[in-house]
Amino acid sequence: MPRYLVTGTAGFIGSHLSERLLKEGAEVLGVDRFSNFYRRKDKESNLQSLYDTPGFEFSEMDLCKGSLEGISEGIDGVFHLAAQAGVRDSWGEAFSVYLNDNNLATQRLLEAFRDRPIQAFVYASSSSIYGDALEGPTKEDAMPKPVSPYGVSKLDGEHLCYLYYRNFGIRTVSVRYFTVYGPRQRPDMAFHRFLKAGLKGEPITLFGDGEQSRDFTFVADAVAGTMAAMTKGKAGAVYNIGGGQRATVNEVIGYINDLQGTPLQVNRGGVQKGDVRHTWADATRAAADLGFNPQTGLREGLKAEREWLIRRMKG
Ligand SMILES: NC(=O)c1ccc[n+]([C@@H]2O[C@H](COP(=O)([O-])OP(=O)(O)OC[C@H]3O[C@@H](n4cnc5c(N)ncnc54)[C@H](O)[C@@H]3O)[C@@H](O)[C@H]2O)c1
Repeated sequence: MPRYLVTGTAGFIGSHLSERLLKEGAEVLGVDRFSNFYRRKDKESNLQSLYDTPGFEFSEMDLCKGSLEGISEGIDGVFHLAAQAGVRDSWGEAFSVYLNDNNLATQRLLEAFRDRPIQAFVYASSSSIYGDALEGPTKEDAMPKPVSPYGVSKLDGEHLCYLYYRNFGIRTVSVRYFTVYGPRQRPDMAFHRFLKAGLKGEPITLFGDGEQSRDFTFVADAVAGTMAAMTKGKAGAVYNIGGGQRATVNEVIGYINDLQGTPLQVNRGGVQKGDVRHTWADATRAAADLGFNPQTGLREGLKAEREWLIRRMKG
């Protein structure tokens, strides 16, 4: 039975990934520092079902500061999802948090696994590394030109992975997620904010004209791609993990209006610095190497996220 280290296990994607690994019979050592990017209470509740599952062990630790000696003992592979996420908060003094959580933490973890014969070190990267994709769909070998400090920090993490592969033979594989959504989505993300405002009868703030588009990825599809990267990813490679569900923000608002049966009240805000206009994944490589084949459509996924939010708001 393989034993995996999952960093950022109390977060949105990390908690789903851990659940799925356990369901498939693996053991999981989860690590998280409960950063204050959003409420600890939300992260604790993400962990709830994991605590009750045999094969799960949790360590509250900051990967930038804690001792990583011995962390690789008995570990067959690493899923490194811990990071400070979020584009809009990455300006100004907050950038030091991004440097620590996204870069220093990654470098320390790579050092800790440098001489270990693991299946792979899977690194959660982001479509933000591309910046403005002028003509989609974007292939992995497009020139990265991040337009936010967050994007820069994620690209730096990819480079760190590559150089540990190149110099020390760690089988690193980077997966570039395209806007992941679904139950437990982070509270700063648009679907979460919109759905919650709709449920509370409050207005939403829409940044820009709403014609910006994203390639949305349902969390279970992102998890499937991430798990396949562990066993099937080519060492040193990067893969686009995009759900193929492109839509503009205005279209998403339309879907939410259909779901709730009443229109959202929309306040207009300015374009946010660091936001890209469009994202669009060419996932051909992930399909070929990883068998990546997203299953969940946008309306279905939005409905699942809304139902989860209703449960969480009651609880
Ligand atoms: N959600 C998306 O749409 C999306 C898109 C692209 C990339 N990503 C990447 O996927 C990963 C997971 O994102 P998420 O949306 O689940 O975010 P999240 O904030 O819900 O989860 C990240 C977790 O990492 C933990 N963490 C941060 N720094 C740490 C440290 N130094 N030591 C230990 N734990 C630490 C946080 O406490 C948090 O629980 C991140 O690497 C993010 O950059 C996410």
